[in-house]
Amino acid sequence: MRELDGNMDSYDTADVGHLKPVKQSVERIADKALSAASPQSPNAQSLNRVPFDDHSQAATTLPSDNPHVSTSASVMSVELRDRIIRWLQRNVPISRLQHILRVEQCSIELAQCHQLDQAQAAQAGLMHDLAKFFKPQRLLQMAQAEGIVLDPVDMANPHLLHAAVGAIVARDEFGIQDEAVLDAIRNHTLGCPGMSALSCVVFLADSLEPGRGDTPELDVLRQSSQQDLYRAVWLTCDESLRYLLSRAQQIHPRMVLTRNWALGLTHKKTPAPAKIQSQ
Ligand SMILES: [Fe+2]
Ligand SMILES: [Fe+2]
Repeated sequence: MRELDGNMDSYDTADVGHLKPVKQSVERIADKALSAASPQSPNAQSLNRVPFDDHSQAATTLPSDNPHVSTSASVMSVELRDRIIRWLQRNVPISRLQHILRVEQCSIELAQCHQLDQAQAAQAGLMHDLAKFFKPQRLLQMAQAEGIVLDPVDMANPHLLHAAVGAIVARDEFGIQDEAVLDAIRNHTLGCPGMSALSCVVFLADSLEPGRGDTPELDVLRQSSQQDLYRAVWLTCDESLRYLLSRAQQIHPRMVLTRNWALGLTHKKTPAPAKIQSQ
C-alpha cells in the first residue's frame, strides 16, 4: 500500500499517494549517515531531545543535520551500521534505503520520547526491511525452513513474510541475538498481540516516518505516537484496515488481533476519536 518499489506491501499503512519524492541520492544519504556515525562527529554525542513533530524538516534532512537529535551514531556501533547499510545498498533500491534510514531515525526519536532503549530501536529500524525485496518463493522457503506457521493470507501474499524473514537475515547475516530487536523486526508489518513497546515503536515508525507525507490523518497518528504507543498502534491498524477494505484486499488475521489488543489497552482510558466512531 505504501510501497513504491514494485513490491507492494498491503500492510504498510500509509498510502502511496502520501509519499513525497526524495531528491537526495542514496549514496549521499548513506555517506552522511555513515559519517554521522563517526565518534569524532559532535552530532554523535548529542542526546538532547527535540519535538517529534517537525516532519517537514526531517523529510528533507538527515538525522545528522540536526544537532539536537540523537542519531544512530550515538546508539549503534559504527562497524555494524556500516555493514548493514552496505548490505542494504546491494539488496534494496534507493527509495527503500531512504525509507529505512528515516524509519531508523524515527524509531530512535520515539524510543527517546518513551524512555526506551535507543540502541535497540536503531537496530530494529535499520534492519526492519532487510528482506523487503526477496522474491516470494525465497520468502516462503525461508519461512518454512524456519518452522514459521503460515496463515493462508501469508501463502497468498508472501511479501508479508518479509518481516519474519528479515529477522532471520538480521540473526544469520548480522549476528543479532537480541530477541527484542528480532521481535520488533518480525512485528513491524502486522504487529502482534502483546508485543513490546519496542515493537510498537518500530511498527509506528514504519508507518509514520516523514516520507509518508503530511496528511491530517498522519498528523493525528504522529501526535498519538508521542503520547500513547498503544493508542497509536490501534489507530494505525484502523487506518490500514480501512485502506485494505476500500480496495477489497485480504486482511491478515494478525492485524485484526493486534488492533483488538491495542484497542483493549487504550479504550478505557481514552475516548475514541470522533472521526472513527461508528454510528
Ligand atoms: Fe516492511
Ligand atoms: Fe518499511
